[in-house]
Amino acid sequence: MLDIRFEKTTAPKEIPDEDNPLVFGTIFTDHMFLMDYEEGKGWHDARVVPYGPLSLEPSAMVFHYGQEMFEGLKAYKTEDGRILLFRPDKNIERANRTNERLCMPEIPEEDFLAALKAVVKTDEEWIPTKEGTSLYIRPFLIATDPFLGVRPSNTYTFIIILSPVGAYYPEGLDPVKIWIEDEYVRAVKGGIGEAKTGGNYVASMKAQVKAHEAGYSQVLWLDGVERRYIEEVGAMNIFFKIDGKIITPQLNGSILPGVTRDSVIQLCKDWGIPVEERKITIDEIYEAHKNGILEEVFGTGTAAVISPVGQLRWENHIMKVQDGGIGELSQKMYDTITGIQLGKIEDTKNWTV
Ligand code: COI
Repeated sequence: MLDIRFEKTTAPKEIPDEDNPLVFGTIFTDHMFLMDYEEGKGWHDARVVPYGPLSLEPSAMVFHYGQEMFEGLKAYKTEDGRILLFRPDKNIERANRTNERLCMPEIPEEDFLAALKAVVKTDEEWIPTKEGTSLYIRPFLIATDPFLGVRPSNTYTFIIILSPVGAYYPEGLDPVKIWIEDEYVRAVKGGIGEAKTGGNYVASMKAQVKAHEAGYSQVLWLDGVERRYIEEVGAMNIFFKIDGKIITPQLNGSILPGVTRDSVIQLCKDWGIPVEERKITIDEIYEAHKNGILEEVFGTGTAAVISPVGQLRWENHIMKVQDGGIGELSQKMYDTITGIQLGKIEDTKNWTV
């Protein structure tokens, strides 16, 4: 069992008043979890300590070569006061796949889960309960060797911070406008596209700025070689409902394997809705829209949950979906997933912990 040292804060912060909207990722709780790793010694010094600045050498490798993994999951408080995590095993598995890809040490699964529980329990009063809110959990692992040569670090720190959040997009559940990027690319097969690491997000920023300037919330990426196949949105995976069928790009090495993506696929199958995980081109979407059979588009992600898409822009084509409103399936999916997360709908799949 993970031996965790606790050092409680002597200066607790004010817990935000839930009457004000919780802007995503702006407020952090009183405590954080840390654990160090050293080659030969392994993981050690697990601790929950007051949230605050880290002390790192400016030469720490993470600053120079981006050797880092991050994850995102959420904690919820049920009406009867239980604290639930949604499918933490999936995040832990994915974290270790990222660690493996980036030559970083594996975090033992049971220690990872124990750390999540310890820090969330410490700051449980920070879990908001208002509709559409949750406690966002951000675990991350950074390379800390003070060294400027390029090789995997020998020392690392694993950290978990917590943030009470509302909707990821200012639009909330209102449909977002998505820009289909045809100049820049996010990732290529054989690269690090399926790893959850900062490098993939910095690669997305240039196009995101361009999209924002044009009035769009997010970028939908096409594949890095032919620029035809749909990949993902960066902060979300993407689903299309075309003529009654649900279609989402198949995982191909450059797409992030989302936990919400997997949950949506499983729910569609349970509901008897045909789901296809396959290659899908932008031309197919354009044709479906032209023929009036592009029924719904929505993004999925831990932060975004289910985010209906009301408009897609590709080259000079503007494709409106659901007349800019929320589709029936998007709404049902949002209600079901958040219902399970909040313990309001029976969790027949044992997704919550
Ligand atoms: C998440 O959905 O948890 C993510 O990591 C996306 C993001 C905010 C970068």
